[in-house]
Amino acid sequence: MNPTEMTRMKPQILIARAIFPEVIAKLAQHFDVESNPSDALWTQAELTHKLQGRQGVFTTGGERIDAELLAACPDLKICANMAVGYNNFDIAAMTAAGVLGTNAPDVLTETTADFGFALLMATARRMAEAEHFLRAGHWTRWRYDMFAGADIHGATLGILGMGRIGQGIARRGAMGFGMKVIYHNRSRLDAATEAECKASFVGKEELLRSADHLVLVLPYSASSHHAIGAAELAQMKPTATLVNIARGGIVDDAALAVALRNKTIAAAGLDVFEGEPKVHPDLLTVPNVVLTPHIASATMPTRLAMAHLAADNLIGYLIHNKPLTPLNPAVLAL
Ligand code: GLV
Repeated sequence: MNPTEMTRMKPQILIARAIFPEVIAKLAQHFDVESNPSDALWTQAELTHKLQGRQGVFTTGGERIDAELLAACPDLKICANMAVGYNNFDIAAMTAAGVLGTNAPDVLTETTADFGFALLMATARRMAEAEHFLRAGHWTRWRYDMFAGADIHGATLGILGMGRIGQGIARRGAMGFGMKVIYHNRSRLDAATEAECKASFVGKEELLRSADHLVLVLPYSASSHHAIGAAELAQMKPTATLVNIARGGIVDDAALAVALRNKTIAAAGLDVFEGEPKVHPDLLTVPNVVLTPHIASATMPTRLAMAHLAADNLIGYLIHNKPLTPLNPAVLAL
């Protein structure tokens, strides 16, 4: 067999967005790779077309893998997401089609928890608002209440969604800032993990009512859609801050903009948005919100580790039949 024939025999994969050249090079050792160095945003039809004859796809969280695409891509065997969240995958449809999904957990936990805490502090201490004021040349003198915000230390930290990232935020709050930590989750943590995080389980209503700062770290699904809307915001303290580093759609952004304008709550920090990268126009006009463009896991070492994990899932499954972080392991038994 000559080298050209050997190359032809490699499984074919698509990398849907621009990623680290070294990760592309690693994948190219095993696969016939089509990458996207210009980082073009493909339509669903273009993605489907590019997946023809390909066994694997490296996705980054924005590409929708649904029943329609799967039906049109019969050679596809694995979709490897470079994200811990995978609400871009219709997992039931993938399982039905015998297509494995993988995500990128663990490698981003501490980086994302760091960012959640940074966004919480920036929000409670009004850093963005104060910086805009300074840059605009409005700072002419000291004032006793200028940009007075809310304390972090000693406050009650509420966490909705207590997976690995939620636990990381709890540890930072309890051990770094002496916060009282309460959480709500679909299922209660075991006693040892609760003790390690110094966190107490409460019902959702108590969480909303008691938290001085509420951080959202739950996965997005039909059941968490608008988990925080007008009714929930109305139950929170008027001095409270809300931070969303989970997914757009968990918060009703229109209702949040109204609540921020009416001071139903004091402030919000948002890294994720409904329909992002579009941002609800009313959020852009209220001053008491800190807005960042979905960067909670964005440090170079963490993004590189996420990309390597997605690549290792493709290699692990298509070459060795051993994916590292399968989401629907039922496919492996098929
Ligand atoms: C980022 O939002 C992720 O899910 O990794």
